[in-house]
Amino acid sequence: MGTLRDLQYALQEKIEELRQRDALIDELELELDQKDELIQKLQNELDKYRSVIRPATQQAQKQSASTLQGEPRTKRQAISAEPTAFDIQDLSHVTLPFYPKSPQSKDLIKEAILDNDFMKNLELSQIQEIVDCMYPVEYGKDSCIIKEGDVGSLVYVMEDGKVEVTKEGVKLCTMGPGKVFGELAILYNCTRTATVKTLVNVKLWAIDRQCFQTIMMRTGLIKHTEYMEFLKSVPTFQSLPEEILSKLADVLEESLHQI
Ligand code: CMP
Repeated sequence: MGTLRDLQYALQEKIEELRQRDALIDELELELDQKDELIQKLQNELDKYRSVIRPATQQAQKQSASTLQGEPRTKRQAISAEPTAFDIQDLSHVTLPFYPKSPQSKDLIKEAILDNDFMKNLELSQIQEIVDCMYPVEYGKDSCIIKEGDVGSLVYVMEDGKVEVTKEGVKLCTMGPGKVFGELAILYNCTRTATVKTLVNVKLWAIDRQCFQTIMMRTGLIKHTEYMEFLKSVPTFQSLPEEILSKLADVLEESLHQI
């Protein structure tokens, strides 16, 4: 009898052990899924960086080859929102369009921008202006929103729906609400790096290149003017020519130190 009870006890113990192992396996599987998701997300980010960095590297190689052959240097590839020949007077007169939207939509756009590696470092005032300028766009199921290789003019934030991103016919990922896409061609002044198609009906917010660049340049030029004024107020720099001060202002970085 004692042996039967012992066996029953041992069996109960084994069952409990198995139950605990099953629970651990479930937990580890969940962790694995989360890690797979993270790897996929990082892989996508890496692919995105590669697709904008490669053209720049190729350009640099072409550049050094042409420089070696005595051809004049062309300007380096840059994020297209860098201030160019405009001055602050031109841009301060530009009135940006304003499209009213619900507080939820405003939050969704802001969060989408802050979640995007290429846009999250924008200043909050710039993000606010982008939010205000974005207008609604809708596409039906199976529509092509962006075609790889095309010249791009719009950046989108998805409010509702699902899209698929492919490159050279290979699926890269799917994207749902709260995601930015179409930013690379505008930020890096390159052609569309991938194709984006709808899997269901989608609701998007869009901003065009011109508005986007006005927002970027205006902030850049305001900062440049502020930095110039600051540099001119520093006695050591007072004798420097305007041109040199302007170059210094281009590379000046603000840093906060608490005393
Ligand atoms: P853009 O190149 O303007 O147009 C295609 C868009 O697809 C691109 O901007 C990105 O927003 C998006 N995209 C490109 N490559 C990837 C990727 N590997 N993962 C997710 N999205 C991508």
